[in-house]
Amino acid sequence: MRVLITGGSGLLGSKLAEIAADRGYEVICGYVNHPPPIGEGLKLDLADPGEVRRRILASEPDLVFHAAALTDVDRCEVDRDLAMKINVRGTELVRDAARDSGAFFVYVSSDYVFDGERGRYREDDPTDPVNWYGQTKLQGEEGCDCVARTSVIYGALPARGKVNFALWLIERLREGVEVKIVTDQFIAPTLNTNLAKMILEAGVRRLEGVYHMAGATRISRHDFAVEVAEEFGLDAGLITPSRMDEMSWKAKRPFDSSLDTGKARRLLEEKPLSLKESLRILRAEMG
Ligand SMILES: NC(=O)c1ccc[n+]([C@@H]2O[C@H](COP(=O)([O-])OP(=O)(O)OC[C@H]3O[C@@H](n4cnc5c(N)ncnc54)[C@H](OP(=O)(O)O)[C@@H]3O)[C@@H](O)[C@H]2O)c1
Repeated sequence: MRVLITGGSGLLGSKLAEIAADRGYEVICGYVNHPPPIGEGLKLDLADPGEVRRRILASEPDLVFHAAALTDVDRCEVDRDLAMKINVRGTELVRDAARDSGAFFVYVSSDYVFDGERGRYREDDPTDPVNWYGQTKLQGEEGCDCVARTSVIYGALPARGKVNFALWLIERLREGVEVKIVTDQFIAPTLNTNLAKMILEAGVRRLEGVYHMAGATRISRHDFAVEVAEEFGLDAGLITPSRMDEMSWKAKRPFDSSLDTGKARRLLEEKPLSLKESLRILRAEMG
């Protein structure tokens, strides 16, 4: 089976490529600036869509995972046209090319499609994004075979030369640097390995519809940081509580965008893991 992963150089896409290749699938990784280490690289720039459709059709995929996006939430807020081009028009382009190739199309969406006023969102709860990134991710969901919404991804390795929140925190705490982390933002932190296995399973089984594929634990970002510190034997006393209104963010963030993962737990073989289980795996992966 030929599996095309857009955003194959990213935090999720690179892990998905690794697992898919380990399981014997032929892996093609879409990228723009960072040629992916695994699989056959395929240059696909959604901001310059001229060649995208032809290249996807020529790659003859059976399964397409669309993990590419403009993921910088503040950049999306100020560069709205670019966010629309990549996250909405780009998704439509990849979706239509996947369909015309006869491939099943899995789109990776976000907890930011919700307003965050309530938390523990289920798949059929009303959406109402509070920022432009969330708006574009929501519009991208239209017409996809499978939509996998996730939340705050972390993993053992940097992707595209960038560390994720957990790695950043571990580095700071190892250096003995104090960090300010918000107490009033609630999330469902998601280990990329667990997410990649859930998404791969949904694609291979051609599961249609919307799924919340995230970590099974709802937690504040501050308490997530404390759990990471404790798992890695680091000084949690360096983690200073702060609040979202103290951050110099350009885009508003939802207060509680945690996801109810019950549907994924019921229907997938690969279950959403608790934070404690995920952090144990993260530590093992980091060696
Ligand atoms: N990270 C999170 O916490 C989080 C939470 C919820 C949902 N999500 C969603 O999950 C998916 C994966 O996120 P991630 O954090 O793994 O992403 P990431 O590490 O930020 O990587 C983004 C990927 O998108 C590619 N990309 C960027 N601009 C592109 C363009 N113009 N055309 C084609 N590809 C482009 C990048 O390619 P190059 O490296 O080659 O530039 C890279 O492979 C995204 O759809 C995101 O919206 C992420």
